[in-house]
Amino acid sequence: MKKLLWIPLLLTVLTTAACGGTDDGPFAPGQPSQPETPGKPGGDDDEPAEPLPGGRGRSLVLYCSRTGNTERVARQIRTVLDCDMLEVEPAVPYEDDYNAMLERAQEELAAIRQGDYPAVATYVEHFDDYDTVFVGYPIWYGSMASPMQAFLYAHASELAGKRIALFATSGSSGVSASVGEARSLCPDAEFTEVLHLTQNTLEETEPRVTAWLERLEANDNDSEEPMQTNTLELTVEGSTFTATLEENSSTQALKERLAQGPLSIRMSDYGDMEKVGSLGISLPRNDRQTTTGPGDLILYQGDSFVIYYDTNSWNFTRLGRVDGVATREEMLDLLGGVGEITVTLSL
Ligand SMILES: Cc1cc2nc3c(=O)[nH]c(=O)nc-3n(C[C@H](O)[C@H](O)[C@H](O)COP(=O)(O)O)c2cc1C
Repeated sequence: MKKLLWIPLLLTVLTTAACGGTDDGPFAPGQPSQPETPGKPGGDDDEPAEPLPGGRGRSLVLYCSRTGNTERVARQIRTVLDCDMLEVEPAVPYEDDYNAMLERAQEELAAIRQGDYPAVATYVEHFDDYDTVFVGYPIWYGSMASPMQAFLYAHASELAGKRIALFATSGSSGVSASVGEARSLCPDAEFTEVLHLTQNTLEETEPRVTAWLERLEANDNDSEEPMQTNTLELTVEGSTFTATLEENSSTQALKERLAQGPLSIRMSDYGDMEKVGSLGISLPRNDRQTTTGPGDLILYQGDSFVIYYDTNSWNFTRLGRVDGVATREEMLDLLGGVGEITVTLSL
């Protein structure tokens, strides 16, 4: 077994400050839960290099996928929007041998960090027919899979001014590093809310894609100013309390999302100091070294929402503070004590 394959799981756990999506922790792919032969859910191995044409719409779905998870999401987007779709493929196909493929993926990502992008077989002459480009990829070692990074690098000028909707699948890692990569590869594009599905949520692909597309459309049609309020309502088991939000790009994005409707988050306790749960979306990060206290609302690694009932020090983004709470007991009282809860956020 090659040493790069097996980083003990314990290490992953210990380097994670809170549970939920793990953006920066090392990833140790074991045997894949999906068949490792690149899967084609639709069964059509002869995908044309030209976009698969849809019936209407000014959207293009681009995706790269090795085991079919991201492709399944891409196909669902295409089904809903009836738009064009194109697979981004490496110039040299990946090895069938799983370990060799992992090694190559790591080498490619390391080369990309030095500015050296692998060749891709897919090239789109112009994007004139499209306003929105959906860009789907798996997370590889915390990053956007190398073929999609190479594609974006090669097409940055064509994508300038386009609306880019990122969607990603991963085992469990978060997507914020990959969102940063996309933004620096396409600095002149406009980025929408990101869709992220993990092994645990892939089976909910259909409803999640539908809800996400509805929000994107609503955002597109709605040129109103984002909500000006700084009050966030949190509802737990039918009881509502309020928090005052910070002013930063993270809370602005959260308010834009909540302007479309409430957001429910399943939260569980971590470290006897917080409740944490996945937001299901990624928000811009404004991380800084922070010491929390009871009532602090925190964004962890861009996609986890944390309510503190005790103290912790870490590098993360402050979202706000629950009103009128000073002690652990008061915060836990509002949260119904220790144990799993669903919190619904609204404006
Ligand atoms: C080379 C490689 C690296 C991976 N790295 C990560 C990772 O860092 N974090 C994670 O959660 N999953 C990781 N995975 C798992 C994939 O992100 C996940 O299975 C994804 O859904 C695969 O999408 P696909 O079927 O479209 O290829 C990795 C998989 C491969 C092949």
